[in-house]
Amino acid sequence: MENNKNIISSKPMKNKIKKIPQIFKHCSILLSIFSIFISTSQAFNYSDALSKSLLYFEAQRSGRLPYNQRVTWRDNSGVTDGLQEGVDLVGGYYDAGDHVKFGLPMAFTVTMLSWGVIEYGDQIAAAGELEHAMESIKWGTDYFIKAHTNPNVLWAEVGDGDTDHYCWQRPEDMTTSRRAYKVDEENPGSDIAGETAAAMAAASIAFRTLNPHYSHLLLHHAQQLFEFGDKYRGKYDGSIGVVKSYYASVSGYMDELLWAALWLYKATGNQMYLEYLINQAHSFGGTGWAVSEFSWDVKYAGIQVLATKLLMEEDHKKQHQEILEQYRAKAQYYLCSCMNKNNGNDSNVYRTLGGMLFVREWNNMQYVSTASFLLTVYSDLLQDTNQKLECPKGSIDPEELTSFAKAQVDYILGSNPMNTSYLVGFGPKYPAKVHHRGASIVSYKENKGFIGCTQGYDNWYGRDDANPNVVIGALVGGPDREDDFRDHRGNYMQTEACTYNAAPLVGVFARLKQLEDNSKDLIASF
Ligand SMILES: *[C@@H]1O[C@H](CO)[C@@H](O)[C@H](O)[C@H]1NC(C)=O
Ligand SMILES: *[C@@H]1O[C@H](CO)[C@@H](O)[C@H](O)[C@H]1NC(C)=O
Ligand SMILES: *[C@@H]1O[C@H](CO)[C@@H](O)[C@H](O)[C@H]1NC(C)=O
Repeated sequence: MENNKNIISSKPMKNKIKKIPQIFKHCSILLSIFSIFISTSQAFNYSDALSKSLLYFEAQRSGRLPYNQRVTWRDNSGVTDGLQEGVDLVGGYYDAGDHVKFGLPMAFTVTMLSWGVIEYGDQIAAAGELEHAMESIKWGTDYFIKAHTNPNVLWAEVGDGDTDHYCWQRPEDMTTSRRAYKVDEENPGSDIAGETAAAMAAASIAFRTLNPHYSHLLLHHAQQLFEFGDKYRGKYDGSIGVVKSYYASVSGYMDELLWAALWLYKATGNQMYLEYLINQAHSFGGTGWAVSEFSWDVKYAGIQVLATKLLMEEDHKKQHQEILEQYRAKAQYYLCSCMNKNNGNDSNVYRTLGGMLFVREWNNMQYVSTASFLLTVYSDLLQDTNQKLECPKGSIDPEELTSFAKAQVDYILGSNPMNTSYLVGFGPKYPAKVHHRGASIVSYKENKGFIGCTQGYDNWYGRDDANPNVVIGALVGGPDREDDFRDHRGNYMQTEACTYNAAPLVGVFARLKQLEDNSKDLIASF
């Protein structure tokens, strides 16, 4: 990112024989889903979008690349990360178009990939992508295991934005500072400890049946990290000054601590974590904050939706009904805000004329992507429990939530005034000058001649040509409030992609593919 930015509870797998009789039981619901899919003029290949979004995570890999690396224009990089501190910090993900490894957004990325697998693992598997999805999670969690060197020490960042941004180099040529930064007892970071705990707890659920030993290891780290973050309170940007102009924790650490407790409760069933979520609900803002965005910084909406699932899924949680209902009220606020069904314009997310949810200029797509995820998850929850979303301006059927999430995804994929897919490499037209160092310079595999810091700016950054490498599956920052998009490498507000943009879409693509397959089955059955 450039400067100053500011369980397995899955649906049944697609199964034609089982599905057809169900269709007639829930005919009206399915007919409306069916109509979601026949009413659009453009049909998108969600399976293709899913596969591509997972490729993106391979392009962002730091460290030694494995034999089965599919993005072949990349090579090993950052192979001495942590050396000067005496820690092995090789691996993990580059955050965006630069080469800093920022721990907080990386952890959020992994939490969202894991949540996607927890909700839609069967659908991802049906699309043949489960292995790649698990690899995308593991590339992050393997790194978090290395970065968590002691119960109360977490390495939070490698490299820094200021020196990184002086250079326009391929990751394979990097000559910028690779200094590593940590949080510990004296220099706390409850937000990054909390988010990393959430990521590892969620990943432990995703890995539970596929790799029980690894799942257990992740859970162990998650529990220690939560304890560390809770016991030594403080914002990580107070401890690590260099992160301030890039990923300052504006919402503080209370949302991450609630988020971590909730994921740990889901992973362990330990009442201690549930009680934390309940007891701190008020003082940590969990039942107080009504928000219209969900991001690497602000987790409240995610917590509120997940807490609502507890309320609806588990009867024995009745003793906490009152607090969980307060969480639900705020989840409803978020969803109604996306659906334009709260009272007053300020309480609703602005929609562009082209129909895109618009939160702010810089990297708006991150909010579109997280909203699509929460809308999809909530719609499924309502459908499973036979409910509607109650908003100040009326109640909304679950199908309408799905339909709106689909409209946001379709906007991303090309159904927009620019007729452009903002998912790179998808469809006939997509951004060609993505603000991405590696993609914009000739592949190291093709030309191993060293490209220096300013040489990259002089010879590659300013070119008018398309990037030599297509960073397939990256979701760029996207258009402005007029649906306008300028495909220029220097326009990083719009043309830079981040790992946390694409992560929530993985599960959504798989769910939309399943719904589309179901609607095809329905057509065939008539
Ligand atoms: C969708 O894309 C995949 C490749 O990712 C391809 O195999 C499949 O045939 C496509 N489906 C349609 C209906 O075009
Ligand atoms: C709400 O927004 C619409 C469209 O931007 C505008 O026309 C209308 O005046 C606004 N209403 C209020 C009460 O601000
Ligand atoms: C997008 O496609 C529509 C329909 O084909 C066309 O009317 C419109 O001019 C196109 N817009 C751009 C910016 O290419």
